[in-house]
Amino acid sequence: MTRLTTGVLLSSFLALFAFASGSRDLIGDVLRLPSEAAGFFRRGTAPEDNDAVGTRWAVLIAGSNGYWNYRHQADICHAYQLLKKNGLRDENIVVFMYDDIAYNEENPRPGVIINSPHGDDVYKGVPKDYTGEDVTVDNFFAAILGNKTAIKGGSGKVVDSGPDDHIFIFYSDHGGPGVLGMPTYPYLYANDLIEVLKRKHAAGTYKSLVFYLEACESGSIFEGLLSEGLNIYATTASNAEESSWGTYCPGEYPSPPQEYETCLGDLYSVSWMEDSDIHNLRTESLHQQYELVKKRTANDNSFYGSHVMQYGDIGLSENNLFLYIGTNPANDNYTFVDENSLRPATKAVNQRDADLVHFWHKFPFTVPNFLPSTFSFPSHLPQFRKAPEGSPRKIKAQKEFVEAMSHRMHLDDSVKLVGKLLFGIEKAPEVLNAIRPTGLPLVDDWDCLKNLVRTFETHCGSLSQYGMKYMRSFANICNAGIGKEQMAEASAQACINFPRNWWSSLQNGFSA
Ligand SMILES: *[C@@H]1O[C@H](CO)[C@@H](O)[C@H](O)[C@H]1NC(C)=O
Ligand SMILES: *[C@@H]1O[C@H](CO)[C@@H](O)[C@H](O)[C@H]1NC(C)=O
Repeated sequence: MTRLTTGVLLSSFLALFAFASGSRDLIGDVLRLPSEAAGFFRRGTAPEDNDAVGTRWAVLIAGSNGYWNYRHQADICHAYQLLKKNGLRDENIVVFMYDDIAYNEENPRPGVIINSPHGDDVYKGVPKDYTGEDVTVDNFFAAILGNKTAIKGGSGKVVDSGPDDHIFIFYSDHGGPGVLGMPTYPYLYANDLIEVLKRKHAAGTYKSLVFYLEACESGSIFEGLLSEGLNIYATTASNAEESSWGTYCPGEYPSPPQEYETCLGDLYSVSWMEDSDIHNLRTESLHQQYELVKKRTANDNSFYGSHVMQYGDIGLSENNLFLYIGTNPANDNYTFVDENSLRPATKAVNQRDADLVHFWHKFPFTVPNFLPSTFSFPSHLPQFRKAPEGSPRKIKAQKEFVEAMSHRMHLDDSVKLVGKLLFGIEKAPEVLNAIRPTGLPLVDDWDCLKNLVRTFETHCGSLSQYGMKYMRSFANICNAGIGKEQMAEASAQACINFPRNWWSSLQNGFSA
């Protein structure tokens, strides 16, 4: 595949739109902190105080791999450093990360991961509990449940918690309606996660649990699903029907150091962590943080922001953050005040497009800033920058890019066609794109959803990461009462053949 052909193909698929470039001037307005506000809170509290609240546990998980997804693992490493400084012990922090970033050949600072443009290394010292192919849904669930015998591989560390303990879970990745990504297959379905949380609650092995979730459509993981009474408080980067956003991306302000061609963080994630990094968390409640993070993540309600949501036992948000994530004694004099907000980044990048950003900064085409559709690379895809023009490596990369794009087009077309076959040309878009009212889960019958996805994949090839965006359509097909047989028939008709490549391989299937 020549460069020219690739370029032609590209421009024919992709409507380009440039970001509005009118960035506001926020230089020098980064943090405003109260210097003297320490009068009323306890100071110099010894770590023994932990016992008063049971043990603090944390599960940190990055659900992606690949250098173009740098930011998810950067978020997780940052969270670890934060918790560590705040007094949590390694034995109580379970980390899941693919661990292919720090020593990735693309990483301009080998062995170092940063989560903000001027940030320190967040990689050093991060426990490698579950890395590579051990980052699985099953291990994640087993770790939460504290079930060592169910763990496969990894360090075996689990949340071995008791009734007085507090648990904090932070997940950062791509997602879609009702699903969260993993660097391995299958992906995580919302109802399975809720089931695990219910089991943990039934086991009586925590007092309360806080779940922070960064992903596209992350609200759909809890919306209508996480009931009250489980002593769980969750916040999500976005509501059930919108993207979440990467930040510190090339071309944005603030942008990463010049040598970085990837986003360094995600907007919601860095918002809660940069807030937590600097405050005395004995004096800041979950609710206060929620408000602050909501404001920053909304990005002045611009197109490049999302709506942070809260679910479950909202009353728990009166608790101080200290109860869950400790506090850094060095911040004892930095108490939370409302005006104290971190400045929002002016631009953020849609999670589905963030990998494209990486791509554009690599590929030798002259292109506008960003592309509207998702692009995600398989982990074996060679990188571009270091490959000379015309070299076998570059040609291979270009070929794989075109394959990936044709896989995407194929999915777009076949999902549409399945819809038309099932509901007729007129009604199909209405059914496929319907959004249920707030408070209702994505789908009533999750087994139906899994079955239909699997049936579609059998005939049409894997949905892959890109296909997560169609989960709502599949859910709506279930909600409309379509069963497996009808789905099989429509899929078989829609996909008489499909591009056979890495992308469509059923080993990359979504459902187990
Ligand atoms: C732990 O996992 C094992 C293996 O999957 C399972 O047989 C067992 O029932 C689980 N234990 C609990 C307490 O859930
Ligand atoms: C906080 O302020 C007090 C009083 O000014 C000072 O003695 C103390 O060292 C400060 N603590 C920290 C951690 O900076």
